[in-house]
Amino acid sequence: MDTDFNEYEQEHIQNLDQYLSECMVLLRKNGDFPLNSNEKQVYLFGNGIRNTIKGGTGSGEVNSHSFIIIEEAFIKGVEILSKEYLDSYNKVYEKAKKDFKKKLQHESFFHPIQGIIKSMGAVMPEPEYNIPYNKEGDIAIYVLSRISGEGSDRQFVKGDVLLTETEKNTITTLANGYKKFMLVLNTGGPVDLSGLEEVKNILLLSQLGVNTSKALVDVIYGKKYPSGKLATTWTKQEDYQTPGDFGNSNDTNYNEGIYVGYRYFDSADIDVMFPFGFGLGYTDFNYDLTSVELNGDIITINTKVKNIGNYQGKEVLEVYLSKPHTTLDEPYQILVAFAKTKQLDAGEEDNLSLRFKLSDFASYDQNEEAYILDEGAYIVRLGNSSRNTKPCAEIQVQEKIIVRKVQNKLGNSGFIDSTFESKKKDEDLSNVSKFTLDKNCIKKEDISYNKSFNISEEVKSLTTEDKVKLVVGAFNPKGGMTGFLGGTPMAVAGAAGETAKVADLKPIVMADGPAGLRLAKDYYVNKDGGAHSTEGGLPVSLVENFPGIIRFALKMISPKPDKNAPISHQYTTAIPIGTALAQSWNRDLAECCGDIVGDEMERFGVHLWLAPALNIHRNILCGRNFEYFSEDPLISGIMAAAITKGVQKHKHTYTTLKHFSANNQEHNRYFNSSNVSERALREIYLKSFEIAIRETKPKALMTSYNLINGIHTNESHELVSDILRNEFGYDGIVMTDWIVAMGMTAEKNNKYQGPSASKVIKATGDIFMPGCYDDYKDILKALENGTLTMEELETSATRIYELAKEIKT
Ligand code: BGC
Repeated sequence: MDTDFNEYEQEHIQNLDQYLSECMVLLRKNGDFPLNSNEKQVYLFGNGIRNTIKGGTGSGEVNSHSFIIIEEAFIKGVEILSKEYLDSYNKVYEKAKKDFKKKLQHESFFHPIQGIIKSMGAVMPEPEYNIPYNKEGDIAIYVLSRISGEGSDRQFVKGDVLLTETEKNTITTLANGYKKFMLVLNTGGPVDLSGLEEVKNILLLSQLGVNTSKALVDVIYGKKYPSGKLATTWTKQEDYQTPGDFGNSNDTNYNEGIYVGYRYFDSADIDVMFPFGFGLGYTDFNYDLTSVELNGDIITINTKVKNIGNYQGKEVLEVYLSKPHTTLDEPYQILVAFAKTKQLDAGEEDNLSLRFKLSDFASYDQNEEAYILDEGAYIVRLGNSSRNTKPCAEIQVQEKIIVRKVQNKLGNSGFIDSTFESKKKDEDLSNVSKFTLDKNCIKKEDISYNKSFNISEEVKSLTTEDKVKLVVGAFNPKGGMTGFLGGTPMAVAGAAGETAKVADLKPIVMADGPAGLRLAKDYYVNKDGGAHSTEGGLPVSLVENFPGIIRFALKMISPKPDKNAPISHQYTTAIPIGTALAQSWNRDLAECCGDIVGDEMERFGVHLWLAPALNIHRNILCGRNFEYFSEDPLISGIMAAAITKGVQKHKHTYTTLKHFSANNQEHNRYFNSSNVSERALREIYLKSFEIAIRETKPKALMTSYNLINGIHTNESHELVSDILRNEFGYDGIVMTDWIVAMGMTAEKNNKYQGPSASKVIKATGDIFMPGCYDDYKDILKALENGTLTMEELETSATRIYELAKEIKT
């Protein structure tokens, strides 16, 4: 290990190392890999060899202490035979990148604000080129990388989701010309792999943070083995044409309703390339059902898994549920449980028990305004991918059961959701265990929406101004936006925000994730006590494409170090991106990552980690999908809960679930309305949050930028108070996403206005972030004109006050 790493970093990296290969998914294999330790000469090709990606860009990017690329990781024990090719590729890439930046900056010369929005997260598509290379040999590895990030969506173009002609030709030539060939995918989300049938070994490496490159070498040489499974379906471009919109500016209609990801592909019977839940290992497994039990409405599936191959490995078993179509249309199946074996040597066995509660998966009936288990047969399926399952139990529900009576709260999407004919009809169920559910085992829950909230006497005694300061992120009254851009003195350099200093409270410090703790790597503290990043307030990857005039302005308003101010460091560990964590299907890994982040938060004085991010992979084009876990809400919720458990083991360190909710595209993200049916919201887009909240107690939650059915999520009393606080029982703080004036003025033709701080507080949100003087004035004005009551303000202020008091101890 790099000896420059501090002891705590070394420990964190070692803890991660035992798990990283669990995030990798072997998509195809022919037995040529792993390589033997004496196979020491390899040809390395592809953009990922030198431009290895550890995670995406934007606020989700983590400033690692150092990072080694794949070439360096191989060089340590292997002779690389393709140096000339790699050098030539470098030149092609650098030139293309320079041209790309120039173009972006040129386009935005006269419209700098639009330029910022356009260049945020903009990614250069991989260029075409013609570089000579050895077309035959013994061993070749091609690493294909793609990056994306906050502010821009991905595209179905060559060099992004699609492979370039150069990539396709090179990969096919290598696959045919070399005795052993592996295609490695260093991507945060799917690429279209159609047309590569000749490639017999494909490994999805994903983006695994600080040790991405070493983890790959370990797997190629068999020191470790891949045991991940896809948490999102990978298939060709045409297959992704679901009925809903994507990328519209004002209104995005989620016409597909609940048919997201495999729920759609399985129900519409589309023959996908690599299904949800699919992944191979170097070894193979057999699994048998040993028994099924029903206790109340808890179903337990007992299994035996055996390693029948020649290598070590771990297997994941998955349980799916097909519901009856009695009154509601239902997808073919939904994931209800999963478990991963311990490490199994060749020939070794493990017993796995998988358990789920039927009522946790009740469907939402909009007419009934309730979660229901409809009358009919529920078929339980066991398998190791969504396309390889067998029925293992049938549970009869004899009459409709109302599990939870609520009210429709989220408005009207303006359309009727699409439905699909499911294929489960002609199945032979004669050999599966049969049960009848005792309806009395489910106690109906009635939601009354009258939860009362505490107001602290200490808050009551504060001045009105101080109360308002508590519910607006710390701002510089003179500096306008400069706080956000690095101008306001902050307690922790590189933190995304903090609360105001009111009474004798310390600020609550918030820093980004989710791929680790995002802080300034190098910083100085000025005499005013403010800690500043040496790189300015915004991610370098975000700023580098900005128009020149904006980069100049940022430089001018950025603080300068006082004379002789020493440079200090905050080194944090880049962990795997959210999607990679979900691919491990391993809660222990997620908890271990949370533990690492929690330790670093404690070390550097951060209280709220702005992560995990648990939006759903509704469309593979969403530019921030890499931050999010999956197309499935169960695995997303479980992973978020496990990370929270890890973070919240430490003193005064907490997670912030984000972005609540239906935040599934980057295009015009501040002003876009996700128009979604109440059912799809509750079963898909709110569900992951509900699971995480019910399983652990995350201290904070961030609302999203988007609107839902025409109402800003942060201004929706129905969403924040009725559903989140009353239905889900959430009792932490609710913050807005970073609403900055820049974003507000960006698009002239927006149908929807931006949110206001006073309306956010009225909706029982607690703090408007990152906060500026206008937000403060807006709340004072609303108090004056009576649109916000003192009690409403004090309720939110109390929640912030109590947390600030807690972290002081
Ligand atoms: C992102 C959030 C992030 C916040 C603070 C916003 O632009 O959407 O995910 O936590 O900035 O950096």
